[in-house]
Amino acid sequence: MNSFIHLTIPARAEFIDIVRLTLFGIANKAGFSYEEIEDMKVAVTEACTNVVLHAYGNSRPGEIEISFELEGNGITIRIKDEGTSFKYEPAGNKSVTLHDKELSEVTSGGLGLFMMHALMDKVEIFSGRGTEVILTKLLGRKEEMA
Ligand SMILES: Nc1ncnc2c1ncn2[C@@H]1O[C@H](COP(=O)(O)OP(=O)(O)O)[C@@H](O)[C@H]1O
Ligand SMILES: [Mg+2]
Repeated sequence: MNSFIHLTIPARAEFIDIVRLTLFGIANKAGFSYEEIEDMKVAVTEACTNVVLHAYGNSRPGEIEISFELEGNGITIRIKDEGTSFKYEPAGNKSVTLHDKELSEVTSGGLGLFMMHALMDKVEIFSGRGTEVILTKLLGRKEEMA
């Protein structure tokens, strides 16, 4: 049976380390390596930072709902907000590598979603009324060298 852990934080940068600490505890218990946990921390931090910066902005207070689902073969982390949505185009992000990009494009945004795809096994994004980012990492998958 899958196990769920839920966490709700104010959508402010200073609370994101609580998500990282929680993630460490859960992923460590699930048997992920430190390297895998570091990768997940970066991906989850990018998703939460996007909520702080793009969903609610400076003036609109809001919350981030994070859920961790432990499955037999890995973990699924959902990062949800009820802020401003955006038009997500999966094809553009999945296939793109940094080598295909101009340096100017890389530095002017889009790196967060790129990192999530690079560091996790599966990334799903639903943006309508708010946004939900679903990140999955499988246990025991060796990193492929690029
Ligand atoms: N939770 C979110 N709410 C609203 N817009 C978002 C959210 N996450 C991502 N976005 C949109 O997707 C874009 C790309 O995100 P990202 O790859 O992290 O680049 P950056 O944050 O540097 O702009 C953002 O600029 C923003 O327009
Ligand atoms: Mg970002």
